[in-house]
Formats: sequence, structure tokens, C-alpha cells
Amino acid sequence: MIVLTGATGLVGRLLTTELETDGVRVVTRSPLDAGFASGVEVVEADPQRPESLRGALRGADTLFLHSRAVGDAAYEVVALARELGVRRVVALAAANVDDDLAAQPSRFRGDRNKEADDAAATSGLEWVSVRPSSFALNALTAWGAQIRAGDDVRYVHAGFEESPIHERDLVEVLARALRDDDLLGRRVDLTGPESLSHAEMVRQIGVALGRPLRFHEVPPDAAARGMLAGGLPEPFVAAMMARYAANLAQPQFPPTAEAEKILGRPARTFGGWAADHVGDFAV
Ligand SMILES: NC(=O)c1ccc[n+]([C@@H]2O[C@H](COP(=O)([O-])OP(=O)(O)OC[C@H]3O[C@@H](n4cnc5c(N)ncnc54)[C@H](OP(=O)(O)O)[C@@H]3O)[C@@H](O)[C@H]2O)c1
Repeated sequence: MIVLTGATGLVGRLLTTELETDGVRVVTRSPLDAGFASGVEVVEADPQRPESLRGALRGADTLFLHSRAVGDAAYEVVALARELGVRRVVALAAANVDDDLAAQPSRFRGDRNKEADDAAATSGLEWVSVRPSSFALNALTAWGAQIRAGDDVRYVHAGFEESPIHERDLVEVLARALRDDDLLGRRVDLTGPESLSHAEMVRQIGVALGRPLRFHEVPPDAAARGMLAGGLPEPFVAAMMARYAANLAQPQFPPTAEAEKILGRPARTFGGWAADHVGDFAV
């Protein structure tokens, strides 16, 4: 039995579907809203209160440790899993876990990628830590509203490059780590297949939509004001802007080819991702 934390989120829902036939037990704080298929066992618990996980972990052999869901409790959750006989832990971490903690923007939203990565690696259990680069889905979060409203996208640093990963490739690699033995004991630095600038990503979304999207670079302080107005916390926005500014000369996480090696086929491209998400950008 595989226990999934973070199962109601972006990654977790896809992963639950991928693993449904293996027998999965998903943890959520809100089981009534979870809405999973009937074959999925749903347990109410809060991974940030590890003792609440006892029932979910009993009888399980594998644990998916989601770095947002477990937060500061990563080590306690892994210790409890070990005590209850779990044999394997697979962490969702991030490409930037080895950076200075203050330079990891998502920490200011409560994500604990470093701790999830380390808790898995030091667990004494079979372990894998998957460390993805930026999700391609971030393009939807950052630009979706502007693209639904028109053909002009205003954002910071047209030339900033990253190697966005398609969520389906991430989920297939996570499923591999949970099911099979070939990734055991590894930190997997997972990226998309190509390094693309912000402007190029917007162009490729335009190609998928059949619309001439235009990228307009705005200064960092104007972009930051927009993010703050959208409700993002100030330290997070400041860390994001610092990350962009510090990595303009070259991509922070160039493509690694891990997805292709692990999945035995070419990794999904950003253009393909955009085509898969045309409906999400539709007015
Ligand atoms: N976006 C990127 O580019 C990127 C790149 C690399 C790594 N990551 C990492 O990937 C993770 C995000 O994955 P995701 O998009 O699947 O997350 P998500 O959609 O926000 O889902 C996270 C799930 O965790 C649970 N959760 C959230 N906050 C919680 C809290 N305070 N206490 C307890 N449970 C909580 C929720 O489950 P319930 O409400 O059902 O309990 C939620 O459904 C983050 O840790 C992020 O740092 C992101």
C-alpha cells in the first residue's frame, strides 16, 4: 500500500490517478471535499501533525512525502513511518534545495523542500528524492489571467531562462520511484528537455493557442507590485525577484535529460505542455 501526502494538490491528484490500480491511500485534511475515484482509500489527517498520520501509515509499505503538505514535520513524519514499518519513502523536493535557504522563494510560502529531501535521504529506509525544476504549470499561474484577457503579457525579464517540466513527466517519474527499484538511493534532478526564456515560453503558448501573444518586459519593481496586489507574500516576491536577478546570465538549472533517461522516451516539451493546456488559457 502506497500512502500519499499532498494528494489533493496539483501533483498529488495526477499521481493518485497514475497509481490508482496499485492500491493507494491518500491523506487529506478535508476528506469530504477530496472527490477521488471510489477505488482510492481516503484518510483524514494533517501531515503537519504527524501523530494524526498513525492510522494512515499503519500497514503501508511506501510513503510519498510532499514538501508542502508535511512542511516542518518532514523528519517526524519519516520517523513515524519507519516506526510503523514503512519500507520506502519518496520525497517531492525541488531543484534549488541546495541553495541558500533565504534564496528559495517557496520557503516563504511554507514549502520545506530541503527538509523533505534530507529527511528521505537520512531516513534509513529505501529512499528517492525527486528534485524538479520549475513546473510548466507556473506559466498558467503567472500569465494565465493576462492571456485569457488579451494578447499582451507583462512580466519581468524577457530573457530569464529555465527548463520547465511538464507535470505529467514529473508524475511518471514519481510513480517510477514509488513502484520500482531502479531509482533507489538517488537524488533525481528532473527538468524539462529545453531551456527557454520567459518571452519564448509566451510565444510558444501563443503558437498553441493560434494567437500572436506579445511579451512586454516590465521593471522588477512594477512586476513585484503586481504580485503583491495579487496577494503573494512580500518575502516570497522579494526572493523571486532576487532569484531572477541572480540568474539572468545563464539558466540556473539547465536541462538534465533525467526524464528521458528514466522514462525511456523524449521528455515532454513546453510547446506540448501549452497544447495540452489550451483549454486553461481559453477565455
Ligand atoms: N511550482 C514549482 O515550480 C515547483 C518546483 C519544484 C518543487 N515544487 C514544490 O512542489 C510542491 C507543490 O506541489 P503542488 O503544486 O502539488 O502543491 P499543492 O497543489 O499546493 O498541494 C499541496 C497539498 O498539500 C496539502 N497542504 C497544503 N498546505 C498545507 C498545510 N499548511 N498543512 C497541511 N497540508 C497542506 C493540501 O492537502 P489537503 O488540503 O487535502 O490537506 C494540498 O492539496 C511545493 O512544496 C513546491 O515547493 C514546486
